Amino acid sequence: MQEIKFYSGEDLPLELHKVRIVQKLFLVPIERRLEALYEGGFNTFRLSTKDVFLDMLTDSGTNAMSDNQLAAMMQADDAYAGSQSFERLQKAVKDVLGKEYLLPVHQGRAAESLISIAYVKKGSLVPMNYHFTTALAHITQNGGKIAELLYDEAYVINSDHPFKGNMNIEKLEETIKSHGATNIPFIRMEASTNLIGGQPFSVQNLRDVRAMADKYGIRLVLDCSLLGENAYLVMKREEEFKNSSMEIIMKEMTALADLCYFSARKISSSRGGGMCTDKMEIFRELEALVPLYEGFLTYGGISIREIEAMAVGLYETQDESMICQSPNFIKYLVGALDKKGIPVIKPAGVLGAHVDAMQVCAHIPQTEYPAGALAAALFLISGVRGMERGSISNQRDEYGNETYADMELLRLAVPRRVFTLSQIKYVEDRLHWLYDNRKLIGGLRFVYEPPVLRFFMGGLEPTSDWPQKLMAKFKKDFGESL
Ligand SMILES: Cc1ncc(COP(=O)(O)O)c(C=O)c1O
Repeated sequence: MQEIKFYSGEDLPLELHKVRIVQKLFLVPIERRLEALYEGGFNTFRLSTKDVFLDMLTDSGTNAMSDNQLAAMMQADDAYAGSQSFERLQKAVKDVLGKEYLLPVHQGRAAESLISIAYVKKGSLVPMNYHFTTALAHITQNGGKIAELLYDEAYVINSDHPFKGNMNIEKLEETIKSHGATNIPFIRMEASTNLIGGQPFSVQNLRDVRAMADKYGIRLVLDCSLLGENAYLVMKREEEFKNSSMEIIMKEMTALADLCYFSARKISSSRGGGMCTDKMEIFRELEALVPLYEGFLTYGGISIREIEAMAVGLYETQDESMICQSPNFIKYLVGALDKKGIPVIKPAGVLGAHVDAMQVCAHIPQTEYPAGALAAALFLISGVRGMERGSISNQRDEYGNETYADMELLRLAVPRRVFTLSQIKYVEDRLHWLYDNRKLIGGLRFVYEPPVLRFFMGGLEPTSDWPQKLMAKFKKDFGESL
């Protein structure tokens, strides 16, 4: 395990890369940011980056790529079938994830779609540690339901539990017994559980899930999109692995799953996605769906250049000095916010810092979407674009009723090697001001609600003139400052 200490004793994350290509950012005046919010229906997904200063919406497809990835993109073999680029990717998947058979898809949710089409039907139940938005949507689109089986500790905001993404093994067995193993097409484990604050599971927990899957003859599917970060936290937090390499830990995890899938936008800092397995029967069950929905089996709808970048990016996840960058910056940000009394998910996870909007906006009822309101307010006063991960991101139940999220979070993603420490300090500063002025934030209501994955393109409006009042207070305190 690598560690770098400062003589001053300060606990600071240190960049282990240098910046050689940059992109200009714009910090537009607050009046323009207010207009942009109205134009974008108070939904941060609908903002243009012309109006966004720090884009902390997601790490999906936004991680910085390495010089070696860009170089590899130049040697792409653009053949429809039998491309050498795909062969290089197959080798990378075998070397890094340890799986023999690879099926490429255009991104992570395409894998979720094909896996659901192949295995889920009416009456199916998929137990999982926690859902991801698109995984849930595809399972329900195919007539299935899910059971989220975390331990209670996972929902505690201020915690020091190292593995809040662990599957509750006792509940898993109860669920299998009560629902019947034959109605459970697979168990889904998500590495670094996205929607509850990027929280990892332990390898021991995954072994216990595997044992249960074996006992009842059920497939185990592992969402590897954030596998590298989960492995990094295993190295930091699980005694058995403190002297193991990233390579060993990642392979230990994937070996426990029958089928792995991933968003390459995340795991390999490229674009694309894939499904991989050692089992020929699983490969065959999914194989025919790839040319039907994605593209031929040696490109799966992905640009060949991205396939080259994906292969190199997969190897780079084994490099601890690369994979540690985002979690260490998140740890810094979480620690800084926590010191200021701002409620934030602890321990720091991966993918981003997660602010607890339920507490920050305790005066806003869940019916008025506190996390969405906090995301809009932060953008207004800083140009920082976060993502709502609360009830707006939830889907309605089968009867059309609103389902309120377990947690109302404002996620501030920290893509790999994108931000500098002073930018992170700016986020800390503006959130601090917003926290001190939190009572000025008001609620939101839908004016346009799409039937599926409503959080992407839904339109909302403020329930009062709170954005104008917040802007007036900002101008009073900051004067002419952007
Ligand atoms: C854990 C997890 N699984 C699946 C996906 C879906 O991947 P994609 O965005 O490439 O469709 C994501 C995307 O953010 C994710 O975080």
